[in-house]
Amino acid sequence: GGVFTHDPGFTSTSSCESTITFIDGGKGELLHRGYPIDQLAEKSHFLEVCYLLLYGELPTAAQLEDFEFRVTRHTMVHEQMGNFFRGFRRDAHPMAVMVGVVGAMSAFYHDSTDVNDPWQREVAAIRLIAKMPTIAAWAFKYTIGQPMVYPRNDLDYASNFLRMCFAVPAEDYEVDPILARAMDRIFTLHADHEQNASTSTVRLASSSGANPFACIAAGIACLWGPAHGGANQACLEMLREIGTVDRIPEFIARAKDKNDPFRLMGFGHRVYKNFDPRAKVMKKSADEVLELLGVENNPTLQVAKELEAQALADPYFAEKKLFPNVDFYSGIILEAMGFPTSMFTPIFAVSRTVGWVSQWKEMISDPTMKIGRPRQLYTGSTARDYVDVEDR
Ligand code: CMC
Repeated sequence: GGVFTHDPGFTSTSSCESTITFIDGGKGELLHRGYPIDQLAEKSHFLEVCYLLLYGELPTAAQLEDFEFRVTRHTMVHEQMGNFFRGFRRDAHPMAVMVGVVGAMSAFYHDSTDVNDPWQREVAAIRLIAKMPTIAAWAFKYTIGQPMVYPRNDLDYASNFLRMCFAVPAEDYEVDPILARAMDRIFTLHADHEQNASTSTVRLASSSGANPFACIAAGIACLWGPAHGGANQACLEMLREIGTVDRIPEFIARAKDKNDPFRLMGFGHRVYKNFDPRAKVMKKSADEVLELLGVENNPTLQVAKELEAQALADPYFAEKKLFPNVDFYSGIILEAMGFPTSMFTPIFAVSRTVGWVSQWKEMISDPTMKIGRPRQLYTGSTARDYVDVEDR
């Protein structure tokens, strides 16, 4: 009974009230707690944005120092969890490892799984934000057969992550500040994006009262898909498949062909029907990194630049308002930094953890919260009588 609307893919259904993030897709505007993303990306840094998303206001210097201390104190992953990593096949995709390991945090840290206890909720939030870079870096190290590198808490969040990914024993490793800044920007630009598929997944999972680690693992699983967080990996693989600039028209033609499922990965967005404001900042960052690393002659990059130009000049993409999205440029930066494509989506997961956690916190503190329970439009058989197997 009851009246309900049929809205596949939730293109016009609001699922909650939120004070965290505002998007005006038509204008290409993205605000966190009212602050424009481009200002945050230029002037702030990831941990400050984490504080803003979690607690609603920019921190004072003392609040920021305290927050950074709390996050830093939790970057270690319990030594026993190393055994859990070692149980995976050595060539596992790091996202597969992350879904498993983050889900298993509720077994390793069950003293912060009671969602009705505000103190436990706070500890879970800090643990997730603090440990996610360690977990992603360890997943990476494990799948390339190198020893895991422990976090170093005198480093900032991004530098520490880069070091855990790229340092090897018996060799010095200095994090380049320009790369650390670019990494921090990637984290900042992906920190939250209101009710996207993975965030909605986290909210739906937590609406049943499931513990935060289980809910975030559900978000990571959803993020993995190529239409969402997997797009950065898929985009770079596409650029490599195109290979040379002369083959671009062929791929553009395929993307426009209704009978061909191929899409230009890294183009288009459900909400932005104008340039993605994150893509603008990311494009600048990509130029900086490429200048530093001197890979202007990287063929993948030439294809990226030329594809961007040709797609933007093509009336099909203009009419459908398909612009390069944030994943188009982040993939290029991560490739230049030396990350394999399999690490692109785990890095997105590290960044988005704070968004998931903030949305989860907001949701469970809301006294009007109900379990998520979509309805359906049933199109199956009408009622019929059971037929015995010998009569079928
Ligand atoms: N290449 C070619 N055609 C496209 C593309 C594309 N990348 N994206 C959309 N279209 C066409 C689509 O065929 C459809 O045409 P028509 O109206 O003639 O049927 C029209 O544009 C609208 O597409 P839609 O699939 O109805 O739009 P959506 O809002 O459901 O999809 C999207 C949004 C992001 C899933 C889609 O644009 C896409 O698949 N893009 C490629 C994957 C990608 O880059 N994803 C990352 C998104 S940003 C970060 C994130 O969310 O994680």
